[in-house]
Amino acid sequence: MSKRRLEGKVALITGAASGIGEEAVRLFTENGAFVVVADVQDELGHQVVASIGPERASYHHCDVRDEKQVEETVNYTLEKYGSLDVLFSNAGIIGPLTGILDLDIDGLDNTMATNVRGVAATIKHAARVMVARNIRGSIICTTSAAASLGGTGPHAYTASKHALVGLVKSACGELGAYGIRVNSISPFGVATPLSCRAYNLEPSQVESNSCALANLKGIVLKARHVAEAALFLASDESAYISGHNLAVDGGFTVVNHSFSAI
Ligand SMILES: NC(=O)c1ccc[n+]([C@@H]2O[C@H](COP(=O)([O-])OP(=O)(O)OC[C@H]3O[C@@H](n4cnc5c(N)ncnc54)[C@H](O)[C@@H]3O)[C@@H](O)[C@H]2O)c1
Repeated sequence: MSKRRLEGKVALITGAASGIGEEAVRLFTENGAFVVVADVQDELGHQVVASIGPERASYHHCDVRDEKQVEETVNYTLEKYGSLDVLFSNAGIIGPLTGILDLDIDGLDNTMATNVRGVAATIKHAARVMVARNIRGSIICTTSAAASLGGTGPHAYTASKHALVGLVKSACGELGAYGIRVNSISPFGVATPLSCRAYNLEPSQVESNSCALANLKGIVLKARHVAEAALFLASDESAYISGHNLAVDGGFTVVNHSFSAI
């Protein structure tokens, strides 16, 4: 049997009722972690916990846009499992799909409130606990290929994910003094409810679109691949990695696909 890479660690995962977060809950618990599943979709969150078993996972409602709920969720994690070693701050929305000439400014505010302000609140409260308890924790955020390239997502989304990369670097700078690592994961297009609903597509259509655009051929990106990257950053195998935005994009963001020199 392969080594369990998060044996006894306690993780809080936001956006954990669905997609990448749900996959991370499964992978983290398979690897020995106790996980708090935090989301706004209560029914789905409870279903995820029921499918894993209450001894390894538990659900807590948390809208990351509300700092009080974030603080309560961090406190719940401590009460339930006695520690907080890993924060996977993954909750995010795609936001308005409108072009810049018709930009939905309220929609932009809500996207920033979820994807940046919400993540900042989770880092703040998780890091407070880690610092106070001398925990050399790991904080991981979910960015996107849209965090480094324009034109791969809507405007508000792209702006929010660029901002998030800055937040990760900035937080890494301060928290390194306490032995806390802060990293992010930057996936290419994955078939999840977020990507399917935004463009009104079936999972198979999202996957075939991603495959057509992808740089790395012969493989379909799945939420599990992204969760594997989160597991690596959560585990001690990445003990000296901090401030990194780990691309899970098959090289998409480092190649100019409109130009070929060979
Ligand atoms: N699917 C993709 O192609 C893709 C690509 C790059 C990055 N991402 C990022 O991955 C992360 C996870 O998205 P996903 O694709 O798994 O989508 P998803 O919709 O399946 O999961 C996102 C989860 O976040 C939750 N959520 C939304 N707003 C919230 C809030 N205010 N508070 C708490 N929870 C909230 C949703 O209820 C949902 O369960 C997001 O940050 C997204 O931007 C996704």
